[in-house]
Amino acid sequence: MTAGDTEPRAAVPAVVAPIADAAGPHVAGLVAAVESRLRDVAGPGEEAVDLAGTAAVAAGGKRLRPLLAIVVAGAAAGDDDERARAAVRAGVALELIHTATLAHDDVLDAAPLRRGRPTAFAEHGRAAATCLGDALFAAAFAELAAGGSTSAVQALAGACRELAQGELLQRADAWRTDVDEARYLERCRLKTGALFAAAATLGAQVGGVAPEPYARFATAIGVAFQLFDDVLDVVGPPEVTGKPRGTDLLDGTVTLPLLLARAEDPVLRELDLRALDPAGAAAACDRIAATGATVATERRARELVDVALAALPPDGDAGRDRALRLIGRGVVDRRL
Ligand code: IPE
Ligand code: IPE
Ligand code: MG
Ligand code: MG
Repeated sequence: MTAGDTEPRAAVPAVVAPIADAAGPHVAGLVAAVESRLRDVAGPGEEAVDLAGTAAVAAGGKRLRPLLAIVVAGAAAGDDDERARAAVRAGVALELIHTATLAHDDVLDAAPLRRGRPTAFAEHGRAAATCLGDALFAAAFAELAAGGSTSAVQALAGACRELAQGELLQRADAWRTDVDEARYLERCRLKTGALFAAAATLGAQVGGVAPEPYARFATAIGVAFQLFDDVLDVVGPPEVTGKPRGTDLLDGTVTLPLLLARAEDPVLRELDLRALDPAGAAAACDRIAATGATVATERRARELVDVALAALPPDGDAGRDRALRLIGRGVVDRRL
């Protein structure tokens, strides 16, 4: 399939369509080209990778990181073919990395379900899911390196390194009762904020604007995004999130909802996460929500987004500004 075979508007996931529209008329075509290229890269190739890789990519997802890069690239990405190609390459590389990290994350978290389907880990086992992630990582860097931008490759490599550090920190902190909020927020920055920041940086490089303010904005909304994801792990529902409730509790991941709830509820303070089964995890989720901790976590996420939006530079690209505001709000209004 080539970019021309894809109907641009139809290829934009419905949940992000208003953002693409706000960013400008060139954006739907770029998002469609990313989608088309993703299917080529993860599509027919070697049989084993093909099976799991195609499934992982085709299972969908919001494609938020490619969209963020394209939005930050701004109107300039619609002006000439070279910038448009660079924006698409960046978007493809970001989504391949994201999908790779999810394949690995599902191994680390022993997660059964992702995007409403069995994970590669559940379906093909630990070894295959690990190799799938590795193959997607390599495909991402091949895609980005083809553009010849060392700084783009460095930005993405730096984010991958931080992401892995975040996952390592999460394993190191698993089951612990002394994780504090600062350490939790640093884990969110590494695990999730760093790839959002790389998306903004790659986009800014394409658009020829200074990356720092956009990277700062993207880091903050990435952290807020993770806070919200951690709320969704408690409240679900799985039919909407495509992931079961309580996965974090079952693998010992201490998140802000649990941290805040432990301060309110002595039963949760005494709870031994290692002894939980899925039914016990669901009951613990209800108990966490009953303390108001999920609402308080959502409030923190909103505050982070408010600060990030207030710091956005007034740069004269109205489409970029509109779309970034929609992304920021969407992250904390349960729309993304
Ligand atoms: C899930 O990311 C992993 C986190 C960082 C919480 P997304 O919620 O963006 O996943 P998809 O791509 O839309 O499935
Ligand atoms: C985010 O953390 C995963 C990555 C950043 C790779 P989670 O473990 O909370 O993500 P989900 O809930 O599995 O999507
Ligand atoms: Mg996970
Ligand atoms: Mg989660």
